[in-house]
Amino acid sequence: MIPRLPHGRPFLFSTAPDAAPLPHEDTHVNKPVILTGDRPTGPLHIGHYAGSLSNRLRYQESHEQFLLLADMQALTDNANDPAKVRRNVVEVALDYLAVGIDPNRTTICLQSHLPALAELSMLYLNFVTVARLERNPTIKDEIRARGFGRDIPAGFLCYPAAQAADITAFKATVIPVGEDQAPLIEQTNEIVRRVNATAGLAVLPEARAVIPEAGRLPGIDGKAKMSKSGGNAIPLSASSDMIRAAVRAMFTDPGHLRIKDPGQIEGNVVFTYLDAFDENKAELEELKSHYQRGGLGDGKIKNRLEDILQALIAPIRKRREEISTDQRYVLDTIRQGTEIARERTEATKREVIEALGLFQL
Ligand code: TRP
Repeated sequence: MIPRLPHGRPFLFSTAPDAAPLPHEDTHVNKPVILTGDRPTGPLHIGHYAGSLSNRLRYQESHEQFLLLADMQALTDNANDPAKVRRNVVEVALDYLAVGIDPNRTTICLQSHLPALAELSMLYLNFVTVARLERNPTIKDEIRARGFGRDIPAGFLCYPAAQAADITAFKATVIPVGEDQAPLIEQTNEIVRRVNATAGLAVLPEARAVIPEAGRLPGIDGKAKMSKSGGNAIPLSASSDMIRAAVRAMFTDPGHLRIKDPGQIEGNVVFTYLDAFDENKAELEELKSHYQRGGLGDGKIKNRLEDILQALIAPIRKRREEISTDQRYVLDTIRQGTEIARERTEATKREVIEALGLFQL
């Protein structure tokens, strides 16, 4: 059972990467289902590692985990460049395998090859209004950020219903996503409740978002979001020269002109990344106060961060290179995962059709 707040609202909580699973998640009999995914629009970067990949490595021990290569969703804002989406399907799958996602314990699957997701999306569009989609904070923010106005692609406006289809088709109850995606889970649960109410039985389970405490990593330039398109990301496939150059170029405290000056920690990207990746928290706290007192140069903290990132990325890069020589293995992995996912999602679709009492030939 998923713990719920009174008045039936989904229970939203944050987990530190090393937090123990909740008791109801720690059942070997029936592992709860986790679904997450990525839009394949570019290779994954260290922001993905800190925010989601490291958790996914942990979840494959305790949960039944599905990873969705969301190529159909990627088209909702990349319809002008289908080749980019096509190319990145394999790149993202490679990133998954390179960080240690184990296809024997996590099912990697391709959205466009799961017809039940498209069929459930169509069905769910009848259980949500345009006004509600436009009010969705995730959609609202993106409409504003991209300047869509009324010229928003209909597929983009409706992707919350499609994401509801993804989540429910797997009967996933735990959805680890960034904070910006939490309203999508809420919207999913509204659709679930309407479908269940119409069916007169709980054919679909509700899901809850799990938001990583760390939040999103900023770009190396200190801009809000690390993104490939922003040119401010460190990809997991970065060469050691790229890592060095990125750390050298990293935004620190523009007011910290001389080593002896007191420096600022807040908004200082080097410290933000150290917070995310440096495991020696005691030493890090010591460095922070030294930096704030003055007398600690940017070069020192950058060297420390560079060593940590080089050590993190080197084995990932090596594995990625090895695996990418065997394209067949990568494609077979996606193919087999998609096959497993197809069975699962088709079964749910049939249950929903049955529960709603739709016509069947
Ligand atoms: N919207 C997610 C993103 O942009 C990707 C995604 C698609 C997803 N379907 C999902 C995440 C289902 C969690 C569950 O990153």
